Amino acid sequence: MNPLILEKKQSDFSGLRILSFESRRAFEMESLIRRHQGDPVVTPSMREIPFEANREALEFARKVIDGKVDVLVLLTGVGTRFLVEVIERSFSRDEILKALSKTTLVARGPKPVSVLRELGIVPTLVAPSPNTWREVLMTLDQKHPVKDKKVFVQEYGIPNQDFIRGLKQRGAHVSRVPVYRWALPEDVSPLRKAILEVSDGRVDILLLTNATQIHHVLQVASEEGLEISFREALERVVVGSIGPVVSENLKEIGLPCDFEAEKSVMGLFVQEAALKCPDLLLAKRSSYEKKSKHVLVQSYPVRPYDVQASAESPFLKACRCEPVPYTPVWIMRQAGRYMKEYRDLRARVSFLELCKNSDLACEVTVTAQEKLGVDAAILFSDILLILEPMGVGLEYTKGEGPYIHRPVRTSEDVDNLLDSNPNESMFFVMEAIRKIRTALNSKVPLIGFAGAPFTVVSYLVEGKGSQNYLHTKALMFRDPDTWNRLMEKMTDATIRYVNAQVSAGVQAVQIFDSWIGCLSPSDYREYVFPHMKRLFSSLSVEVPAVHFGTGTQALLELMRDSGGTVIGLDWRVDLGDARSRLGNAPVQGNLDPLVLLSDLKTIRSKVKKVLDQNNGRPGHIFNLGHGVLPQTPFENVVALVDCVHELSQR
Ligand code: CP3
Repeated sequence: MNPLILEKKQSDFSGLRILSFESRRAFEMESLIRRHQGDPVVTPSMREIPFEANREALEFARKVIDGKVDVLVLLTGVGTRFLVEVIERSFSRDEILKALSKTTLVARGPKPVSVLRELGIVPTLVAPSPNTWREVLMTLDQKHPVKDKKVFVQEYGIPNQDFIRGLKQRGAHVSRVPVYRWALPEDVSPLRKAILEVSDGRVDILLLTNATQIHHVLQVASEEGLEISFREALERVVVGSIGPVVSENLKEIGLPCDFEAEKSVMGLFVQEAALKCPDLLLAKRSSYEKKSKHVLVQSYPVRPYDVQASAESPFLKACRCEPVPYTPVWIMRQAGRYMKEYRDLRARVSFLELCKNSDLACEVTVTAQEKLGVDAAILFSDILLILEPMGVGLEYTKGEGPYIHRPVRTSEDVDNLLDSNPNESMFFVMEAIRKIRTALNSKVPLIGFAGAPFTVVSYLVEGKGSQNYLHTKALMFRDPDTWNRLMEKMTDATIRYVNAQVSAGVQAVQIFDSWIGCLSPSDYREYVFPHMKRLFSSLSVEVPAVHFGTGTQALLELMRDSGGTVIGLDWRVDLGDARSRLGNAPVQGNLDPLVLLSDLKTIRSKVKKVLDQNNGRPGHIFNLGHGVLPQTPFENVVALVDCVHELSQR
């Protein structure tokens, strides 16, 4: 970039470097930028999934022809066209016209309207400008209330959770019709290169023509550990948006929107950008420079911990089966109600508030590690939080534990689960990880975690904790297709969530399959194993993964074969026997948590028994066989940690 150029006031880009993530019309975008004397970098960020893969759209086609659709909301022109093409594959145009004329058709704006017009259909309602989901809801409220109506929403890209929630709050039975979906390009290396260019300050203007582009870019940036530097670099880049939907998305994910086009048409957008952006850039850079003179310390350094120091920690060495000076120990649920500091905090805030406030979550995590002197910290959160952005209504009730307001039990319920990007929906978790990594002793590794799909799905299907998993097993045995679809969705979400935690800075992860022990080996093999295998083979290889379950005496070999670096054991197996059965795999465990309700002498002798069962083999991390109970005296937990360190000293 030539600084002299910035001083010229012209209605063109004057050689500035303009980045666009346009995909389908990449070529056109590039020539538009050139036509306005810009230096283009056009890097496609999306790939369209063909409609043969659109099972939901085919199912929708059948429903609309059968008259089972009250309201159809059409959000985009391209999506509307796809949907009609899908229906036309199975039905004649006459049938379609007849079916659609009996359905209330709501168009979000002019684009779906013009596609419908080509078919000779006039929509029942059209949302007014600026054509966002808010106008759609407003129009429905005024002209066609949706209470108890079967409302179908044609979606595009990332589902609009606020819109779906808004419809559900109004009492509608909402089904999503994702007629086409955008995926990341097969090869993301050009995207990575573009992100690096931004981070290195080599880009002047970023032009966005749809919201999915920026979500995809952030996803790649996060996976590459570049999100923070990318976000920071945008403080010196002019970000232009083609219209209100893009601007709104930028705002929601905390990115700047410096300019919004007056007309949402690509050619006019680039023209207007060429006219306004050079001046905006000058203003933005000079205000940044003024501001940065006052800032002595940069905000977050990327991965601000001592990688080497923590890699040599006894915990990570044990994960690699290397010799250690003493057996590392940490405790599942080490930050919990048995601790006074925790109870005091909980008297002030609810459990969910505690999880979502990254400062408090950081404080709780670090305090537990420091007060106990354990060899690892575990992120303070809960395995069920991943369910909240899926739109099923998660609540932690006093005394009775977690509760799901809309449990998932049918194929339709599975369709209705919302997808989300964990970097947005679980932003507070990533923020907590960054804060913990700054506050925690740099030699101490931080463990991130997620529930395993079976355990989380069992909560999702039952709606709460369960004795016999009646609904879960009924679904699994009766309707394996739906079961597998549900497990697939949960596995996808878990992979994304755990990998986002790794990018945010955890040094290890644990997958909790706490309730898996209710399955027979052959059912595990049939209904769970393939999903676990995919999960573990898709997790980032940068960090070790602990695969934990309870009641798993009959499942240990299968668990190991499905994946994980370390196998977590409960107290119902002899640790020595388990090690022989598992070959070389490192293990974690396995003192009965109830031992901590006894006295120091008993605790000491039981700790010794577990250490003796391991018999000095490398690759043992000491832990309880399940979480520490709220009734446990705090001093007994401290004594346990000291005792493990002392008795295992080499
Ligand atoms: O280990 C840790 O310290 C990290 C934090 C953590 C919590 N839950 C905090 C929590 C972890 C890793 C979990 C995992 C979890 N959560 C599992 C798997 C492991 C296990 O313990 O079996 C499961 C099944 C859950 C679901 C869950 N969360 C239940 C059943 C309950 C209610 C019962 C209970 O123990 O209170 C929770 C709430 C919960 N999660 C609390 C904590 C500290 C207690 C909330 C409170 O009242 O303050």
